[in-house]
Amino acid sequence: MSETRTFGIVAEYGDVDSVMAAARRIRDAGYRRWDVHTPFPVHGMDDAMGVRPTILPWITLGAGLSGLGLSILLQWWTNAHDYAFLISGKPLFSLPANIPVAFESTILFAAVTTFLLVFVLNGLPRFYHPLFRMAKFKKATDDRFFVAIEARDEKFDPGATRKLLESTGAASVEICEEPLDGQVLPGWVKFVGVLGITLAMIPLVVAYRARNAKTDTPRLHLVGDMDFQPKYKTQAASPLFADGRAMRPQVDGTIARGELRENQHLELGTVDGNFADGFPVAVTRELMERGRNRFDIYCSVCHGYGGQGDGPVALRAKELGEGAFVAPTDLTDDYVKKQPAGQIYATIRNGIRTMPSYAAQIPVADRWAIVLYLRALQRHSDASIADVPLEKREEIK
Ligand code: HEC
Repeated sequence: MSETRTFGIVAEYGDVDSVMAAARRIRDAGYRRWDVHTPFPVHGMDDAMGVRPTILPWITLGAGLSGLGLSILLQWWTNAHDYAFLISGKPLFSLPANIPVAFESTILFAAVTTFLLVFVLNGLPRFYHPLFRMAKFKKATDDRFFVAIEARDEKFDPGATRKLLESTGAASVEICEEPLDGQVLPGWVKFVGVLGITLAMIPLVVAYRARNAKTDTPRLHLVGDMDFQPKYKTQAASPLFADGRAMRPQVDGTIARGELRENQHLELGTVDGNFADGFPVAVTRELMERGRNRFDIYCSVCHGYGGQGDGPVALRAKELGEGAFVAPTDLTDDYVKKQPAGQIYATIRNGIRTMPSYAAQIPVADRWAIVLYLRALQRHSDASIADVPLEKREEIK
């Protein structure tokens, strides 16, 4: 048999009360390196053993706060400092915007730290313990209770410690020996470890080589798909055509399907190249209602519900003192009143100076509906009581 050394003295008990009492005695005797092994959790054992509360919660708190601080710092650094990028006038740094990331990294740091520290603080993973060599100790998972005082405890004394344990009413007291070579890793474990680490390097080496070596062929191209096909790219030259251009100009007069704009008045608001004043659609009450509906949705944000250029966007820009902001035109001004309907239609279709085109949002018929409603707004702006039919005058007083 190989040489052994004393791991400690182990006492066995038959019930909770006596192991609890023994724990108190040992605690009071001043031992520090000892442990109690029970088949099930015993409430109050921490106290009986004098185990101090774990510092883990404090470390968790610290990790959480670090996560919080670091993530806010990161967001400030990236968004407000290192690459300040103004997005629609929002502040570069604002706490509410940082909360999702800050919240998540607080949880992440706290959780990962706690998870790992539970192992570290408990001395895990541990593959071997000298107590497992004792045949009796197997009952620690069944119906027996054990107290083991380790030999490395400062107060440990083979005689005195054994006496103390015997005096606590232990069913048996035994010395636990551990073989000296018990601490040495078996050769095959080392071999597998070294082999594993070596194999784990291979992908890194392959990746390193791939990043640094030069080659004309794609590095990894298992499925070619249609990646390699002869074709002309934009602006390329081609000997096939007389003018040498691969990109062919449109054939004059070609019109794509559905793109034929026959009715110029309807589509462009012009007749013979000049803005037309009539409406190319039937003017009805429904058209007027539709116009009001569309105007309120699309135009009022800038031009205001009354068309006087006092929509919320304009007011806000004024409030912020935005110097470069061009105020929306007062649509009830004479300047717009005098414009032919076709010209207002064209403004919606094409946009004008700083006002963008609304062609994408508003289809042709709706544009005319808006022009019609705009005409009503203009009429309204300088209306007098004389404009109201006699029988309706009572109602608006
Ligand atoms: C995003 C804000 C905004 C919206 C929405 C908007 N406009 Fe304008 N509009 C402007 C501004 C700004 C001007 C003045 C442009 C300039 O002078 O550079 C203007 C000018 C006009 C003019 C005067 C054109 C001229 O001949 O000078 C008309 C007419 C007009 N808008 C109609 C409309 C209609 C109709 C709508 C709804 C479809 C609409 N606008 C929606 C901002 C807006």
